[in-house]
Amino acid sequence: MQYRRLGSSGLQLSALSFGAWATFGGRVARGEARNLVAAAWDRGVNFFDNAETYANGAAERVMGDVIADLRLPRDGFVVSSKVFFGAVDDPRPTQKGLSRKHVHDACHAALKRLRVDYLDLYYCHRPDPDAPVAETVAAMDALVRQGKVLYWGTSEWPAERIREAHAAARAGGFQAPTMEQPQYNLLHRERVEVEYASLCDDFGMGTTTWSPLASGLLTGKYNDGVPADSRLGSDAYAWLQRDVLGDDASRRLSRARAFTALAAGLGVAPAALAIAWCLRNPRVSSVILGASQVAQLLQNLEALDVAARMGEADWARVDAAMA
Ligand SMILES: NC(=O)c1ccc[n+]([C@@H]2O[C@H](COP(=O)([O-])OP(=O)(O)OC[C@H]3O[C@@H](n4cnc5c(N)ncnc54)[C@H](OP(=O)(O)O)[C@@H]3O)[C@@H](O)[C@H]2O)c1
Repeated sequence: MQYRRLGSSGLQLSALSFGAWATFGGRVARGEARNLVAAAWDRGVNFFDNAETYANGAAERVMGDVIADLRLPRDGFVVSSKVFFGAVDDPRPTQKGLSRKHVHDACHAALKRLRVDYLDLYYCHRPDPDAPVAETVAAMDALVRQGKVLYWGTSEWPAERIREAHAAARAGGFQAPTMEQPQYNLLHRERVEVEYASLCDDFGMGTTTWSPLASGLLTGKYNDGVPADSRLGSDAYAWLQRDVLGDDASRRLSRARAFTALAAGLGVAPAALAIAWCLRNPRVSSVILGASQVAQLLQNLEALDVAARMGEADWARVDAAMA
């Protein structure tokens, strides 16, 4: 494993980390969840990502259970949660968002579900137009001072709002956000590369990036249709097809096919190549992997070797194929 600092903080995250969205507490049984966490840990993964909203808290409960069951040393791993969407269907106004109340309540609920005394990383999962930024910053700062959160950050906030958070932190003497969690993959790169670039330079923010495979599209598994046993094939994620395939599904699929063919020509698994591509960006602190089976995770972890083997000419071919 390779370790990278979370922006200019002193925290070292594994360059490849592992998240529980759309798997734990849902399609992935507890036994396989345990095998996945164990396999990741054994290969040096030290960051496990979660959120209150994943399977309405069930993903955190499963992750907390298996981490306790595996007896991972608390000082050896980093675990996160995120607040915003709530952990129940049809949340009431105080059960979602970024008010001081929900930030406080959601943190304590996540601590219980994950069976830990503190969260290493705590994210505001989306911006909340109904909560003043300064209130959210103060609420996060309070959790940091209470020792319940070590580093807080944002996920998919417009850069301008993140700047507002930094200004509020400066004005109030509060802890500023340390990291952003954006989507980043070969089909979705602009926000990280353009919009967020100055946040890393100006504030030393790190990034923990999600969906490196565009929910599996970049593995080639959707090249010839949607397999029934895949994420996009499951009823619960029918809505995601629109996001992943976009308005023009044939264009996204033809790019995925071109990428898969290129990977075959280079003699590497497309999944490992797509993840290695994310690692090339030095502003990426950790690429959060998702997997529903251990075999997928092991293939994805090969990205480190692939990254070491690829030369500039290979990457130029990838960029050209995806342009
Ligand atoms: N902050 C946010 O808003 C946000 C949003 C999304 C995700 N995240 C975080 O980022 C993590 C990773 O995101 P993601 O799960 O979308 O990542 P991803 O790598 O884009 O997709 C992972 C899914 O692709 C399929 N897959 C993975 N490896 C494969 C392989 N080698 N061969 C074939 N299929 C493979 C699996 O689904 P199937 O086997 O079911 O097809 C797997 O669950 C999440 O767990 C979560 O922690 C954060």
